[in-house]
Amino acid sequence: MTIGIIGSGALGSNFARALAKKGLAATISTRRGPESLAPLVAELGGSIKAGTVAEAASADIVLIAVRWTDLPTALKGLPAWNQRIVIDATNPVEFLDPSSPDAKDPSNPLAAYGIKAIDLGGRSSSEVVRELLPGARVVKALNHLDVNVLAQPEVSGGRRVQFYAGDDADAKQAVRQVLEAIGYFPVDLGSLAAGGRLSELPFGSLSATHFIKI
Ligand SMILES: NC(=O)c1ccc[n+]([C@@H]2O[C@H](COP(=O)([O-])OP(=O)(O)OC[C@H]3O[C@@H](n4cnc5c(N)ncnc54)[C@H](OP(=O)(O)O)[C@@H]3O)[C@@H](O)[C@H]2O)c1
Repeated sequence: MTIGIIGSGALGSNFARALAKKGLAATISTRRGPESLAPLVAELGGSIKAGTVAEAASADIVLIAVRWTDLPTALKGLPAWNQRIVIDATNPVEFLDPSSPDAKDPSNPLAAYGIKAIDLGGRSSSEVVRELLPGARVVKALNHLDVNVLAQPEVSGGRRVQFYAGDDADAKQAVRQVLEAIGYFPVDLGSLAAGGRLSELPFGSLSATHFIKI
C-alpha cells in the first residue's frame, strides 16, 4: 500500500520521520510545493519523497495533517477518492493570534494553549471531515498524541498506544498494519462517531493522554 501525507508541519513531518525510521515509503506534500520540502527529504533519506498535494492524495492511504481551518482549501480539487483510505488526524481547534481578544478570553479554557475549540454542533470532527471527502474511507488516528513523541513509538521497554476509529473494517485493518509497522501499539476505539470523539482534542477523555503498552 502506498502512503501520502498532506501537510508537512509538526504532524506531517513527524509522521514521515516515524515512517522513515522503519524504511517505510511515503510521498509528503505541502501548500508551498515539493521544492520547499528538499531539506526535510534530505534529512529523512530515501524512503520519503516530496510530491504535489494531488500526488500525495492519490496514494492508497492518505494522512490529512493540516489545521482544521485549512481543511476546505487543502481538500478542494483533489482526485476522486474512489474508496481510498484517509487517516484524519485533525482536531477541531483554531490557533489564536496571541494579540487577539480571543487569546485573553477568560471563558476560553484553552486560551493558555493558544487555541480555542471549534463548535461542531455536537458532531465528531471526523464526521465533518468525511463530508469533505466524498467516497473516501475515513479512519481517525494519530490525533491524540503529542507530535513531539510521534517519531519515538518504542519507549520504556514498550510501545506507545495509538488509537484509531472508523466505520470500515478493511480500512481500519490497513491503518492498523501501518501503525504496527511503525512500532506503535494500535487500539481500536470502534466507530468514527463514538471512538473518534473519545480521542479528539480538546475534550475527548483519551485525548492528549499517553499510554505505553508494556
Ligand atoms: N501539533 C500537534 O501536537 C498535533 C497532534 C495531533 C494532531 N494535530 C492536528 O494535526 C493537524 C496539523 O497540525 P500541525 O501541528 O502539524 O500544523 P502545522 O505545523 O501548522 O502544519 C500544517 C501543515 O498544513 C499545510 N497546509 C496548510 N494549508 C494547506 C493546503 N491548502 N494544501 C496543502 N497543505 C496545506 C501547511 O503547509 P505550509 O507549511 O506550506 O503552509 C503545513 O505544512 C491539525 O489539525 C492539528 O490539530 C496536531
